[in-house]
Amino acid sequence: MSRKPGPPAAWETDAWSKLEKSAAKLQQSDADGPLHLRQLIEDEDRCEALRASFDGITMDYSRQKLTTETVNELLELAEATHLKVKMTAMASGKAINTTEGRAVMHMALRAPKNEKILVGDSDVVPEVHEVLDRVYAFAESVRSGEHKGATGKKIDTVISIGIGGSYLGPEFVFEALRTDETAAAAAQGRTLKFLANVDPVDVARALSGVDPETTLVVVVSKTFTTAETMLNARTLRRWLEDAATKAGADKAEMIAKHMIAVSAAVPKATDFGIAEENVFGFWDWVGGRYSVCSAVGVMPLALQYGPDVVQAFLDGAWSMDEHFLSADFSENLPVLVGLIGVWNATFLEYNVQALLPYSQALLRFPAHIQQVSMESNGKRVTLEGEHLPIEAGEIVLGEPGTNGQHSFYQLIHQGRVMACDFIGSIKSQQPIDATAQGEDVSNHDELMANFFAQPDALATGKTIKELEAEGVPKDLLNHKEFPGNRPSTQLLFPCFDAKRVGQLLSLYENSIAVKGFIWGVNSFDQWGVELGKVLAKQVRGALQGARAENAPVKGFNPATTSLLKTYLE
Ligand code: F6P
Repeated sequence: MSRKPGPPAAWETDAWSKLEKSAAKLQQSDADGPLHLRQLIEDEDRCEALRASFDGITMDYSRQKLTTETVNELLELAEATHLKVKMTAMASGKAINTTEGRAVMHMALRAPKNEKILVGDSDVVPEVHEVLDRVYAFAESVRSGEHKGATGKKIDTVISIGIGGSYLGPEFVFEALRTDETAAAAAQGRTLKFLANVDPVDVARALSGVDPETTLVVVVSKTFTTAETMLNARTLRRWLEDAATKAGADKAEMIAKHMIAVSAAVPKATDFGIAEENVFGFWDWVGGRYSVCSAVGVMPLALQYGPDVVQAFLDGAWSMDEHFLSADFSENLPVLVGLIGVWNATFLEYNVQALLPYSQALLRFPAHIQQVSMESNGKRVTLEGEHLPIEAGEIVLGEPGTNGQHSFYQLIHQGRVMACDFIGSIKSQQPIDATAQGEDVSNHDELMANFFAQPDALATGKTIKELEAEGVPKDLLNHKEFPGNRPSTQLLFPCFDAKRVGQLLSLYENSIAVKGFIWGVNSFDQWGVELGKVLAKQVRGALQGARAENAPVKGFNPATTSLLKTYLE
């Protein structure tokens, strides 16, 4: 197949060959060699050079297994693969999601009113703000009690139904702000719950302790066809109707007052029975996993925290977008995180990215970025549909520190090598000055002591010589040896308030786009999720047939047939 004209594939560039050589050299480094991280981080000039900052956020990548020369080669690769052109094409509304013929414009969702962003010939910023204003007005009316439930009660609880991108981002931001002082004050007396899984257990959990007469159900689905979300929506619609019957209220009134929708398929939401004025739209140029800044996230979050907090979050994301689009690549946080990801995953073959927030508030950040990254870049063909000669994508996992340290860090220190991103803040959302109560350090300092210590432990490790000097018995030497030379980046934020959470989101979203641009994949489609859905439909049919008419299970391979029979019997 002949290649279309355009930028060369990354692996066809000189920069790629140089990087391959650099990787080979760095991988040979032994514990005493000049290229081991133990030695590299002693170089003050290198450490100074491998640091970038934006708006009070410091990125320290001196513990990555690279030299300043490697960074220059990565920047050369960015240049050679026309990274800037690709970023601009995304930001200016070109249909870069070629397999679906769509633009990729989630950045426009956080653009201020005075910006002009074209998709095709039309400026999308006014329609973004029109929906945003509607969402804010609706949220205010619910929060103030002006919008009452069907039995005249004030709504104080929201259940947001949605899965994947229609759930993970909103839940991440909800959790991130739950203990932020401003957001918590705005949420006083209010509850937000999520219902994602089709597992009836999740329904039970979502409904536990919840009064339908004071609850608003938000059905969030871009397509309004996702099987799990639709079943959960029907289940909660029945729950509301039953409650209406019990309370002697009108069923239609109950749905009108207690059920709203967020969708890019407005007619499907109205067909479901939700009044058009209660449907909040978004557009096909917003990918599901990139939709938290649309009504998908903005609606549940504005209901919980109010419009001011949500606006601060959107402004934060936009400020990082602006930095991404304007800063020189050598100082550009999302670009650097993206290039380092390519370096680790492709050249050093460290294909796991561990996201390690030293902030309990960010507990759902790894799960959200896991979807954004793995659904975006877990691909095997180029944009043109040719098989990739390299492996793209990363396996993303993570947990907040210090919890993770007592869980999977053993493997990171002495088992397999993975690239770690340590994410922490200077100020805590909830400082406890334990020194006043006789402790040696404040609780936040204790947390952050680990944030600073772990990357050094990973980088420097501990040698047999050092262990011998400590008098470690011979038979334990190998057990206690830490090879070190394990890469990490530290991202130190001033704090995690709404603005900073928005910046964190944009930093990672854009870094994932950078990786996809360099690898040459389409980071904005997700064909890999389809096959399982089709097969589940066949199984669903078989289960229905077996349950309703005792029909024999057939049409599957022997393994599935046998397991289905066991399930049914
Ligand atoms: O199955 C994957 C997926 O399509 C995701 O990309 C998406 O975020 C999720 O399902 C939910 O889709 P929807 O918002 O259309 O219900």
